[in-house]
Amino acid sequence: MTGVIRGTGSCVPSYIIDNNALSQFVDTSDEWISERTGVKRRHIAAKETTVSMAAEAGRRALESAGLSAEELDLILVSTISSDVILPCAACEVQKELGASNATCFDLNGACTGFVLAYNTANAYLAGGICKNALIIGSECLSNLTNWHDRGTCILFGDGAGAALLQGVEGRTYRPVTHSDGEKGSALTLKSRHDCNGITKEINPLSMTDDAYFMQMDGQSVFKFAVRKVPEAIREVLDINSIRQEDVTWYVMHQANRRIVESVAKKLNEPLEKFPMNLQEYGNTSSASIPLLLDEMNRKGMLRSGDLIVLAGFGAGLTWGATILQW
Ligand code: UT7
Repeated sequence: MTGVIRGTGSCVPSYIIDNNALSQFVDTSDEWISERTGVKRRHIAAKETTVSMAAEAGRRALESAGLSAEELDLILVSTISSDVILPCAACEVQKELGASNATCFDLNGACTGFVLAYNTANAYLAGGICKNALIIGSECLSNLTNWHDRGTCILFGDGAGAALLQGVEGRTYRPVTHSDGEKGSALTLKSRHDCNGITKEINPLSMTDDAYFMQMDGQSVFKFAVRKVPEAIREVLDINSIRQEDVTWYVMHQANRRIVESVAKKLNEPLEKFPMNLQEYGNTSSASIPLLLDEMNRKGMLRSGDLIVLAGFGAGLTWGATILQW
């Protein structure tokens, strides 16, 4: 048994901040952000929450798969920005959808989270533990962002993406995942506040303790990503005896356009095999891969039989790659 994606969905906040608007908050410019990251704008939650976006993305994935919520037996939400600590976001999504037969839990794998959620759900399906799994990456990173820190606030955005995985007879591909806790200090967050200082009428000047917001050594994370992601992709292709020319798409975590370009170059693959939407959403952590998958699905870019490599990397540090057949 293995999992196949039967449907996808996504949901992003309607409020958009472009680079020029950001330059009112911090000393930056559209030119710098565009050139160094590829990001042009990001969607920021005003009324939306991690759970509301996750539930809407999940609802759309169910619709696209033609399944009812009662048919779900697993809901897995990957997030670092859940609205509350308890109950978990997956149980809240269950409630919203009426998925009364599902087992629900969350997973914190940061920007590798969707790859880890996919692997976990696939293991449940391959092991016959469940038949229909809804996996969701949902993030409200604006609540965790220091809007005074131009090294981070230019990068991140909010949103959710979901995929409906169904167990079928077929080949299971072995994933590759790694962690290095020794390097965890490169990307940290002490705690969280339910405020973003942008849309929730909080005065950003009152936020004095930077440790309560995401702190990132951008260059270290950048160097780690461009070294480890191509290695993980080569490793996952190798252990599954798949050649690069058999891969239709590499769907990478959308952190920075230059990271994606570097990975493509190191693999000697055309950039066209690495779709991107970070210009519109920024870096949405565990939501970025399913957001992009859903966009590709809706655009009709995915054909039956396509081999797709998902690759994620981020806080922990964590990184990994996994193969799926469309
Ligand atoms: O999601 C998973 C984890 N996260 C990532 O994968 C992010 C990885 N890192 C990055 O994407 C990049 O490191 C950033 C986009 C965060 C930063 O880009 P960079 O090219 O690494 O910039 P830098 O930190 O090396 O700074 C270069 C220069 C510095 O000025 P000096 O010292 O050369 O005069 C910075 O002060 O650019 C300056 N700078 C800025 N200037 C305008 C840094 N941020 C900004 C800014 N606007 N927003």
